[in-house]
Amino acid sequence: GRKWTEVGLVNESLKDKTVLVRGRIQTTRPVGKNIGFLVLREKGFTLQCVLTVADNLVSRQMVKFATSLSKESHVDIEGIVSVPDAPIKGATQQVELQVRKIYGISKALPTLPINIDDAARSEVDIEKALQGGEQLVRVNQDTRLNFRVLDLRTPANQGIFRIQCQVENIFRQFLLSEGFVGIHTPKLIAGSSEGGASVFRLDYKGRPACLAQSPQLHKQMAICGDLGRVFEIGPVFRAEDSFTHRHLCEFTGLDAEMEIKEHYSEVMDVVDHLFVAMFDSLNENCQKELEAIGKQYPFEPLKYLRKTLRLTFEEGVQMLKEAGVEVDPLGDLNTEVERKLGKLVLEKYDTEFYLLHRYPLAVRPFYTMPAYDNPAYSNSFDVFIRGEEIISGAQRVHVPELLSTRAEGLGIDLKSIETYIDAFRYGAPPHGGFGVGLERVVMLFCALNNIRKTSLFPRDPQRITP
Ligand code: 4AD
Repeated sequence: GRKWTEVGLVNESLKDKTVLVRGRIQTTRPVGKNIGFLVLREKGFTLQCVLTVADNLVSRQMVKFATSLSKESHVDIEGIVSVPDAPIKGATQQVELQVRKIYGISKALPTLPINIDDAARSEVDIEKALQGGEQLVRVNQDTRLNFRVLDLRTPANQGIFRIQCQVENIFRQFLLSEGFVGIHTPKLIAGSSEGGASVFRLDYKGRPACLAQSPQLHKQMAICGDLGRVFEIGPVFRAEDSFTHRHLCEFTGLDAEMEIKEHYSEVMDVVDHLFVAMFDSLNENCQKELEAIGKQYPFEPLKYLRKTLRLTFEEGVQMLKEAGVEVDPLGDLNTEVERKLGKLVLEKYDTEFYLLHRYPLAVRPFYTMPAYDNPAYSNSFDVFIRGEEIISGAQRVHVPELLSTRAEGLGIDLKSIETYIDAFRYGAPPHGGFGVGLERVVMLFCALNNIRKTSLFPRDPQRITP
């Protein structure tokens, strides 16, 4: 086969060499009949290509053909790398390609529902352009999602989905190195796993069933099956009613569950070490991606400590009180209050990543272990990035009688979780775990304002296509 070079790798080191590249046409610009320019794009990198009839490099017909190709068409180009005197504006690569041959591979429609250049502009850039009298259409979220395959071509989106892959990768690698086993639990289950309100119900060959709202019950049963420490990366379904910036109806859950020897802090230790390693790795290995995202959506790098801050729920309530925010000491914190607490924590401890633990039992699911010293509280925690929740976790009830009582008290149909409760009747070790929302981690690490930006093809209460 022929030797191909990636657009992102065409640089000065290839000066005077002939290279073969494939990419999309970002822009074309004829200059009279004898010269034409086009910008070729591959994976967010762009390269200026020059067509000139001088020295018989290409024909006039070729200049005409190339500069009339529609934007976003795919082409192959063979050309010679040259280094111009002045810096090149409007392309990532600082060399040019003197075109010798160009082949059309796939034609895009002459007018597209989204202009990629416009879709890639930052808000500040758009404001400036509009003030300067430029004619330009702001590409709104819905249009982006309706034509997601076009929207995905922007450099920021290229960065986002590579970061997402890296988050998942580090989650897996880290837990493997800590002795966790990767598992897959069923997504078709008999009852709800996180309470009835937000469950998708379906017909399972004539029997009622649900789409799993989490791997919760089965990851615990894997512990009862002596797998010791387990993790799962898989889809999670929630029939959310509310249309918010951080709720999807389908998202990717990063879940872990482990035996506990002494205290639920063992689970928090795993979260602490895992996420510090994750943030370090993203900052170190994903600079290009983070830069591409920041260009369109400017953000400050996440502030986090080498040892993750842990506050008790009571301490959090106290901090809020001192700042004049009164909350129910045994109730839940709403989104606004969580944000406020995030700000207070940042001021006091200089971190945007922290753990809040020992939540009131009343606001946690039935499978959560009550605190041994005070059953008004529980051995549970939430984790926050920039004041928003990304994780919840806890020690679980491994005593079957207590589990039944708790479930019944919360109005859960015991029949639907019978086999789950039975799992603890054959002897079960103390255990705990946590669940992370992948899209939320990426959204908040990059300080993005909407979870739809970090879901490839988001499913929300109003959207099930494309
Ligand atoms: O807080 P949640 O509901 O907890 C559980 O599912 C437990 N079984 C976890 C555990 O092991 N104790 O969900 C866990 C995480 C949340 O912190 C959030 O990041 C994410 O999943 N999440 C959502 N992400 C996107 N859209 C939604 N509708 C989400 N609901 C929860």
